[in-house]
Amino acid sequence: MSVLALVPAAGQGLRLAAGMAKALVHLGGVPLVVRAVDGLLASGVVSDVVVAVRHADLELARGLWPDGRVVVVIGGADRSSSVRAALEHGLRRRPDTSTVLVHDAARALTPPALVVRLVDAVAAGLPAVVPVLPLADTVKRVDGSGAVLVTVDRSVLRAVQTPQAFEVSVLRRAYDLADPADHTATDDAGLVERLGEPVHTVLGDPLAFKITTPWDLRVAELLVGAG
Ligand code: C5P
Repeated sequence: MSVLALVPAAGQGLRLAAGMAKALVHLGGVPLVVRAVDGLLASGVVSDVVVAVRHADLELARGLWPDGRVVVVIGGADRSSSVRAALEHGLRRRPDTSTVLVHDAARALTPPALVVRLVDAVAAGLPAVVPVLPLADTVKRVDGSGAVLVTVDRSVLRAVQTPQAFEVSVLRRAYDLADPADHTATDDAGLVERLGEPVHTVLGDPLAFKITTPWDLRVAELLVGAG
């Protein structure tokens, strides 16, 4: 059984406003994408990693893993195009892949134990598994002007993280059927849901939060002792 991890890292990171690809921003002296990949490999259950970066960052990113353990490919204009590019490359390289993990480079502090939980769940027979957390805040639906329409029952809602784990044929079918021009699915499990395949959940981890804004980066710096 071979586990392939895909790490889309080709986003511009406009909300972080660092003037470079977010994945290459340093956290305590280490690029976010390197921390994300280190967490995957530290789990001991990942065989191969493919990272997708912007064309302009290709040389720099390849220099981050000179031993070739991590393969770097060129990503696309949106996250799912980057995942698609990494998936095609990864499966060509490792046709024996049984499980695929799709992770965000921006979830740099994801604990290896979470990666193990997800891979174990797929190995136990679940076709698609995502890490989730309950919502702490009250949630309201609003109209275009910001006026409250209704308070939503948060007990049935979950915030979804990555890595998301898939049985290889399920993710492959999801990407084969997805329209590359349709950007409405915000995660990979969303594409699997459209197949009618069940998506299961496991408990996520607050440390798997996505570093999106300068505030998130500040929190991450404090967490790694670089504050
Ligand atoms: O922008 P957002 O934080 O939602 O991006 C999630 C992940 O997808 C990030 O790791 C980002 O680098 C990646 N991404 C990508 N290709 C894009 C856009 C985003 O690989 N074109």
